[in-house]
Amino acid sequence: MGRLIVYGGNQWGDEGKGRLVHEFGEDADVVVRVAGGANSGHTQFVDGVKAVTHLAPSAVSHSRARCFLGNDMVIYPTGFEQEITDLTAKGFLRCQQLGVSRLAQLVMPYCLDLEKFREHARGKAAIGTTGRGIGTTYEMQVRRLGLRVTDLLHLEQIRAYVKTILNEINPELAHWGGQTYTVEDIMTFLEQARQILEPYILKEPLSKIVTQARDSEQNVLIELAQGPGLDKTHGTYPYVTSSCTLAGGACSGAGIGPTLIDEVYGVTKAYCTRVGGGPFPTELDGDLGEEIRARGQEYGASTGRPRRVGWHDGPQTRAASRVGGLTGVVITKGDVLQGINTMVCDYYQQGDRIIRDLDELDTLDLQDVQPHFQEMGSFDNDISGCRAFEDLPKAAQKLFLMISQLAGVPLVAISVGQHKGQTIIMQNPWRD
Ligand code: IMP
Repeated sequence: MGRLIVYGGNQWGDEGKGRLVHEFGEDADVVVRVAGGANSGHTQFVDGVKAVTHLAPSAVSHSRARCFLGNDMVIYPTGFEQEITDLTAKGFLRCQQLGVSRLAQLVMPYCLDLEKFREHARGKAAIGTTGRGIGTTYEMQVRRLGLRVTDLLHLEQIRAYVKTILNEINPELAHWGGQTYTVEDIMTFLEQARQILEPYILKEPLSKIVTQARDSEQNVLIELAQGPGLDKTHGTYPYVTSSCTLAGGACSGAGIGPTLIDEVYGVTKAYCTRVGGGPFPTELDGDLGEEIRARGQEYGASTGRPRRVGWHDGPQTRAASRVGGLTGVVITKGDVLQGINTMVCDYYQQGDRIIRDLDELDTLDLQDVQPHFQEMGSFDNDISGCRAFEDLPKAAQKLFLMISQLAGVPLVAISVGQHKGQTIIMQNPWRD
């Protein structure tokens, strides 16, 4: 009997979802990336070769899977083309089908321009976006000024709409001192986008494809992007991305109702990282933070920016697990902490007040809470060869159990190294 499993990050993104989705995706028939765009970068190694997917689902290298870019994604056409070229050159693109939902939005050139101007104008208060036009594209969508993948199939009919868009957008570009666009500029861009995307545009609604797959008892894997700390509503607003990063977002992004979801697995690092601005209560400044960054190769897969590093944040994990409705937790990068006396934050203090869940506080209050830590000890042996929980040193077991307790759900898997197979599987996600 098939299942539908949602995989998402449980922190501020970069939890190592790609690697796990890739691994569990081997038994999936349908894999859908539901939201976000090239702001994310999911790194995987196949046969020792490294590849990063930004838009395509992380399971594109599996020959069994049909892979889809979902309804709530934002797609920059030439970025998509480059990614496909790169994946093809590396022999990664082996899936049965790669399709793009007609409902996904197109990242337009003026979305990139506007984001650049606005971030610059914010100065120190900048969000620290990835500069991929993500927020401005979602903004166009809700302003009813967006262009969708489906529009590429109706180019002549949308000319008047393009004019309406430019009537609103050009004055803003001019206000920032930027280049304005003519209807012809945009039509040329859209024609090029059509040539790139047309072979991939789904003829059927993605909703129907996913529902039929479930009805015929196939395995469906839904891949979220970023993490709950960056969710547009539940994250540390305004230091967030502009999409829904929660399991709830899987419904709109894949076009399914929540009743179709069997499991929600949250992927979390044994420690914590964040890229860009915004509060990070357990952040480590100084040498230890530097060391963990270097060992964990904590540099953005999309932008190359150094990630901020900190201890595992229990109040964040509690809140994220509840909002995401997790049924299991997957832990990554525990191996990075070998030989380091590891701490886990179990609560924050604000004066006399104890705060157990991050979302009890406003973003502004998070700037000055005092994290309270529990010491987990350190383990000296290399754990990358462990394939059963019992094989792990006691300090590593303690750390992983603590995280599972904070999440309030059982451990599904623990990755103990960056290569495929370096994983302790506690529950087979498809069969248990
Ligand atoms: P945007 O998504 O480019 O608008 O960026 C908004 C915020 O989300 C910034 O702090 C980014 O660094 C962060 N962000 C966006 N995508 C990712 C991701 O995949 N991993 C980690 N942080 C991300």
